[in-house]
Amino acid sequence: MLALAACLAFGASLFSSSVNGGGGKKPAKDDAGARAAFLEAYKVFTHPRCMNCHPAGDQPLQGDDSQPHFYRVRRGADGNGVFAARCGNCHQTRNQSGEHSPPGAPHPLEEKERRNEPRWHLPPAATPMVFERRTPAQLCRQLLDKKRNGKLTPEQLLHHVSHDPLVLWGWNPGEGRSVPPLSHTQFVEQVKTWIEKGGACPQ
Ligand code: HEC
Ligand code: HEC
Repeated sequence: MLALAACLAFGASLFSSSVNGGGGKKPAKDDAGARAAFLEAYKVFTHPRCMNCHPAGDQPLQGDDSQPHFYRVRRGADGNGVFAARCGNCHQTRNQSGEHSPPGAPHPLEEKERRNEPRWHLPPAATPMVFERRTPAQLCRQLLDKKRNGKLTPEQLLHHVSHDPLVLWGWNPGEGRSVPPLSHTQFVEQVKTWIEKGGACPQ
């Protein structure tokens, strides 16, 4: 009960600070501040827990050394795999216990009717949302480009990194996997600062 109350209070403060900009006014545009915040967030985007599903090639990666996924698993047009090697055959709505077992995560809360279906997949071939081998400048511009980011506004991008279960999974990745160098709260705070200060990109 206490934990729930704390969680609701946290949610409410996140909400009011994103609507009011904290003290009631939006922070001023600040290119240097925005770039610095993006460089912090970049450490998470390019961590194996995120990058392994945002590969430059056609195959998911695995492990802290981001090796190609075993069994030559491939993206497929919709990101769910090809032929018999569909991601959802092995990856469920939650992590399986034990090291080297398949990780899993559910659909977002908004998609209530799909909460029991496996969700684990790569971005689709048409918009592969590549994080691997992107410089900070390249990734920053790509994340702001609606043609390449799945048509997200900056506010929707912030919502995605705050709430999407695949993002949250990065901090609950199952036994034997490391977590990104910032906490989820710190990461969201950096993305929010980057956007609120005007979304400038490193050069
Ligand atoms: C035949 C079963 C199987 C299929 C099909 C499969 N996976 Fe996996 N996957 C696994 C197992 C098992 C692991 C854990 C490997 C380990 O930890 O050594 C894994 C690990 C991963 C990881 C690594 C997580 C990390 O950060 O280390 C990613 C990413 C991943 N799979 C994505 C996918 C995607 C995307 C698909 C579909 C395109 C897919 N997998 C299809 C069984 C499968
Ligand atoms: C299981 C694979 C998987 C993992 C793990 C994953 N993502 Fe994604 N990500 C996706 C897919 C698929 C999409 C496309 C939206 C969708 O289909 O839900 C996406 C979309 C995104 C987007 C919005 C589109 C864009 O411009 O890139 C962001 C931002 C993002 N992911 C960040 C992250 C971060 C940060 C992490 C790690 C903490 C992460 N993702 C981990 C699969 C994954």
